[in-house]
Amino acid sequence: MRIGMLTGGGDAPGLNAAIRAVVRAAHQAGHRTSGIRNGWAGALEGRIDELLPRDVRGILPLGGTVLGTSRTNPLKEADGLQRAMGQLTSHGIDAVVAMGGDDTLSVATALHETGYPVVGVPKTIDNDLSATDFCIGFDTAVGIVAEALDRLHTTASAHHRVMVVEVMGRDVGWVATMGGLAGGADIVLIPEYHVGLDEVVEHLRRRRGEGEDSSVVVVAEGVRMAGVETGSGVTDAFGHVRLSERGVGDALSRAIEAATGFETRVTVLGHLQRGGTPSTVDRIWATRLGARAAELAIDHCSGVIPVRRDGDVAVVPLADVLEQRRVPKELYELTRLFG
Ligand code: F6P
Repeated sequence: MRIGMLTGGGDAPGLNAAIRAVVRAAHQAGHRTSGIRNGWAGALEGRIDELLPRDVRGILPLGGTVLGTSRTNPLKEADGLQRAMGQLTSHGIDAVVAMGGDDTLSVATALHETGYPVVGVPKTIDNDLSATDFCIGFDTAVGIVAEALDRLHTTASAHHRVMVVEVMGRDVGWVATMGGLAGGADIVLIPEYHVGLDEVVEHLRRRRGEGEDSSVVVVAEGVRMAGVETGSGVTDAFGHVRLSERGVGDALSRAIEAATGFETRVTVLGHLQRGGTPSTVDRIWATRLGARAAELAIDHCSGVIPVRRDGDVAVVPLADVLEQRRVPKELYELTRLFG
């Protein structure tokens, strides 16, 4: 059989490890593989090429995705699903391995429901898929945030400043929470649990009163807060606003300085969180999940996705991961022990 694979949505460190694993597992079992370029855009446009084991040599430590990615949504195009299926069929693709977050996997689910064989692989630095303890890219992103906080603590302390650090996280604050815990943030603000500007200001004043003359505040890009005036942003094919244009970090920094008089600076980590070499955890789990996805496709399973559960690989229906996984309250509360 021939397995076609694609990577959709934001890139994530570890995707290449997963691509490599699918190719190697499929070829070892006597099957063939093709790369679908730029996510679902490649399926619509028929940009599908043979992908051989030699093509994936050396890509394990590389960030990004050798297949390219996009936020193209076939469900938003006239006959999009039918066109994609037509292209996949004409390129001899017997099954698709789709690597992505909820957007990419919602298209995968729709394709499966029309009868085309599809297996998913969980990927998103946002870590917001249900039914899995792991999404490709999250571990690396948390490491990048922690390292950034280590660096920002020292400059904050030298200048006696408040440092606001904006991290990714549209609807959920996994990167902010885990990055904040790992990097010793003094305040973590995430979309799931509302904290008012007054509370932030009071917290910073209290710290100053206790002799802590610098503070590091981590804010997830999707946070909304009265008194913090953000911009708006353009919307993509999946209906998501481009949050980097809202500028919550910048707006919060200005609001804190205005309310406290403490000198405040902002750092927006942005796409640094998604770029570069994957952590060992991302490499290992991307490899395990990619290899399992290939096996599932070979076994003619469809509408399923391998996930990490309790330290092992489990297989669940694609639809199970689509619900958004929020940061549990107890975990978020842990961030409030510090600072
Ligand atoms: O992949 C998810 C995500 O990282 C979100 O946290 C963020 O809002 C978005 O991608 C940014 O994506 P883009 O690459 O389109 O700017």
